[in-house]
Amino acid sequence: MLSRVLSKKVTGIGFLSFSKLRWLSNRFYHSNEIYIENQSSGNESELLNDSKYKNYIREICQIPDAGHQLFVIQPDIKSGARRSKWSTAELRLQETCSLVETLPMWRVVGKKIVTAKRPGTAYIFGSGTFKVLTSMICSSRNVSAVLLSIDMLSRQQLEMLQKAWGVPVFDRYTIVLQIFKDHARTKESKLQIALAEIPFLRNRLNQFQDGQHDQQVGGAQLAGGAGQTYLHSRRLILQDREMKLRKALSKLENQRSLLRKERLKRKISSIAVVGYTNSGKTTLIKALTGDSKLEPKDCLFATLDVTAHAGKLPNNMTALFMDTVGFISDIPTNLIDAFSATLEDAVIADVIVHVRDISHPDTESQKRNVLQTLSTMLPADKLPNIIEVCNKIDLCSSDISIEETSSIFISATSGRGLLQLRHEIQHRLIQATGQLKKKFKIPNGGPHLSWLYKEATVCGVEPHEDVEYLIVDTVISVSAYSKFKSYFSNSKYKDS
Ligand code: GTP
Repeated sequence: MLSRVLSKKVTGIGFLSFSKLRWLSNRFYHSNEIYIENQSSGNESELLNDSKYKNYIREICQIPDAGHQLFVIQPDIKSGARRSKWSTAELRLQETCSLVETLPMWRVVGKKIVTAKRPGTAYIFGSGTFKVLTSMICSSRNVSAVLLSIDMLSRQQLEMLQKAWGVPVFDRYTIVLQIFKDHARTKESKLQIALAEIPFLRNRLNQFQDGQHDQQVGGAQLAGGAGQTYLHSRRLILQDREMKLRKALSKLENQRSLLRKERLKRKISSIAVVGYTNSGKTTLIKALTGDSKLEPKDCLFATLDVTAHAGKLPNNMTALFMDTVGFISDIPTNLIDAFSATLEDAVIADVIVHVRDISHPDTESQKRNVLQTLSTMLPADKLPNIIEVCNKIDLCSSDISIEETSSIFISATSGRGLLQLRHEIQHRLIQATGQLKKKFKIPNGGPHLSWLYKEATVCGVEPHEDVEYLIVDTVISVSAYSKFKSYFSNSKYKDS
């Protein structure tokens, strides 16, 4: 499953430069801009825009610019490790069709749910089912390709099915990869997706026996040079590209890890917002931070880049809300792995908010999928501390029970439940960062107040009955508190 996709989001955490971090730590409390910076070199652009390579991919994957008219087959797997975790095959088919429709120019022109008992073998279907499918596909003039909705097809399965049906056959990996390529915005996410594509291309390339493709397409025209076969030259291209992509990514990862250290040093609190794709993560962050640049879309994997947005909590504390790539079921692990480095920033967040679309008919399966993926990424003690948010309550019937659970029910679009959520996030953030809630009685007009504004979160200031003093409500770190006590040890103040 994939589940992870992708932290909106799958790609890379947008970069916060040092200068921005410095600015953030001093001033961002007055703003909530999105901070994404890609520090990339010309080499990366060359890598991503290599037109020769792009043609090569089109040729191998059989993905024309004009898109495809797909016949979608949804296997209903009843047993074994790949048994469907969804409640019904209909819901799964619905999600698969939504995935396809996310791609411009791709259309679903036919669909069928079939029982599949042996998805791991060349013969996925029983002979009767296979006959029915073959007749449906071959008799339909407008089908240009077939999508078999399992994570990744093997070489033998592909060979067998393409031969029988006479059209390209795709799996979920191919489709999700296309969506990611289409939606990736930052250089890092594009590089990650390009890297995730390599094993897929190798798999496709291995369909051909050495020499076979040279004969099919005219070896002289496509072979890489004297003495090289078509396959050999393509394998070298992949090997070379993989090496360059890894190098470019590791440079970006180093930058990110420095920025992360800087953020931790400056004690900027962060809240990761995770969840199944289309559950409303971006909408929620927009509602919590008021960031007008965020554009929620009714489409799967609208966000593939982890982005950070500054927002204020009820007590005036500021924090970065991290929008992450959405999760989805049945995605091969190497596609997930491609994004794991960028998800690390979300994983080390002080608080994790899991957004669920409570109006979705398969909301329970989606929840299981997300938690299962998170359990592979998070230390065990972090799992019970995730805040579960049931979103889209406005789309549910009024008899939904919201009392007997620890989840917070909200509508990110109408604003219902958001205040309760803000308070809960604030409470968890104070706990997670080991901060103290302190009330100070300080001299009016002294240096104390400006010091507190600089080093702590000032939640409120009130005049004391004795006009010589002020009462200041704060959230303050243990170290800032001891500094305060030592700096002002000679002056009059009281804390509680
Ligand atoms: P991905 O980027 O695909 O992971 O999606 P996401 O989880 O960030 O979802 P996003 O915020 O883009 O919202 C998806 C769709 O759900 C959009 O059309 C939103 O307007 C809609 N939506 C989000 N929250 C609510 C809600 O509380 N009520 C209703 N009715 N729609 C909502």
